Amino acid sequence: MIRTEAAAGDPAGPCVAVIFGAAGDLTKRKLIPALYNLATRRLLPENFAVVGVARHELTTESFVDRLDRDIREFLKNELRSETWDWLKERIRYVRGDFGDADSYRRLASELSRVDAEHETGGNYLHYLATPPSSFSGIVGQLREVGLVREAAGHWRRVIIEKPFGRDLESARDLNRDLRQALREEQIYRIDHYLGKETVQNILMFRFANSIFEPIWNRRYVDHVQITVAEQVGVEQRGGYYEEAGALRDMVSNHLLQLLSLIAMEAPNSFDADAVRDEKAKALNAVQPLSPETVLKDAVRGQYGGGDGRDGERVRGYRDEPKVAKDSNVETFAALKLMIDNWRWADVPFYLRTGKRMADRLTEIVIQFKRAPFVLFRRTAVESLSTNRLVLRIQPREGISLHFGAKVPGPVLQLGGVDMDFCNADYFGTAATTGYETLLYDCMRGDATLFQRSDQVEVGWSVLTPVLDVWSSLPPRKFPNYAAGTWGPSEAGELLARDGRRWRLPA
Ligand code: BG6
Repeated sequence: MIRTEAAAGDPAGPCVAVIFGAAGDLTKRKLIPALYNLATRRLLPENFAVVGVARHELTTESFVDRLDRDIREFLKNELRSETWDWLKERIRYVRGDFGDADSYRRLASELSRVDAEHETGGNYLHYLATPPSSFSGIVGQLREVGLVREAAGHWRRVIIEKPFGRDLESARDLNRDLRQALREEQIYRIDHYLGKETVQNILMFRFANSIFEPIWNRRYVDHVQITVAEQVGVEQRGGYYEEAGALRDMVSNHLLQLLSLIAMEAPNSFDADAVRDEKAKALNAVQPLSPETVLKDAVRGQYGGGDGRDGERVRGYRDEPKVAKDSNVETFAALKLMIDNWRWADVPFYLRTGKRMADRLTEIVIQFKRAPFVLFRRTAVESLSTNRLVLRIQPREGISLHFGAKVPGPVLQLGGVDMDFCNADYFGTAATTGYETLLYDCMRGDATLFQRSDQVEVGWSVLTPVLDVWSSLPPRKFPNYAAGTWGPSEAGELLARDGRRWRLPA
């Protein structure tokens, strides 16, 4: 986001993007379309190449043919043949097993050839679009063949996809393994939510305007709600999801990232570490949950059969492919977190996420305190509505502010109205994958939008008590919400107990 004035909009410097797991979903759905979109905007360097690495028996030619078919399916923009040809000419394929040393020697030779041909200067961006179990192994092998060694004049960076471990201990192990081969500055842990325009806009909204920051605290804010609701189920990812669940899949990364952007203090600058220091500080201030608080303030759910996106009947989680018939994995999680610092003491942050919910909706609600009623005692007004700021991440990206206004007429009445800003109306919609900014930033060495090891570890520390309690106490009644609803009733009770309720989307 957060690039310095001088570099804004310049193409990245010469480099090769090496994609491990190049025959997989992420490559065809996101990475190649994102590189194409960057090329369209002239943000890729002329001296650029892509090397795909995967186990599949493919040649460069058949790999490019596959990508050629895939991009027509997954690109959301019109495919311009001159840009696509430009990119295609720069793509190579190396067949390799991630565990096999020989594959890395072949990769190294191919990279030397590509370097010479495209004058990419020995700068490599390795993208690990692979299962997490391969991360440590790949990085270790890359070190063995010198492909992550930096020297004067060239850089080597590694992008790691989530999940970063499955709990605090495994995250620490992974960080330790990575650091044996890489300096922290070479590691780019990606959270694709941070690539979303509207997520990046949270910082701009907070810190590029003077009127919000003074009220962004416990004096004015009653509570915060963060909702990431999906209408889809687990689709074909039952195998992965059985090991993960909503808490690991969504809360440990995307929701905690959103929370830290809302809760953080203003950084001293937009340098990567200045921003990440403040985000980590905010997470560090989350009040540790005791086992008793987990029982009270953490809610889990699993969907049963119900209504799908288009009103069609859909099956419950336990009937999804590769899911155990008696699975206790949660597809919904809601939490109440408190942040122990001067800005946020006593202001609850309510988080919820779920699959197969009534709507697809990611939004953050800043609910302000009610104004004193005193002036209205002798009027027909019975109660005052509260001010509410809603940051809509997706869909219908935008921001709205809810406030009370006089209803025209001789009797004093108040109505709740909204001031609404919709991104698309002002700036138009450019279809992007959300990976463009992240790839471009990594090529330019800007790690602001990537997670540092301490952020990952503090995130897991926040969730450890929940993971512990949930794994030792099986849920009482799963499934406990029907597909197409807003989750289990306990999620509503979590707020009702505090005299609050989840905002229903307009
Ligand atoms: C991924 C999760 O990180 O985010 C998926 O693994 C989830 O389970 C996805 O569906 C949601 O991303 P988005 O961009 O569609 O909100």
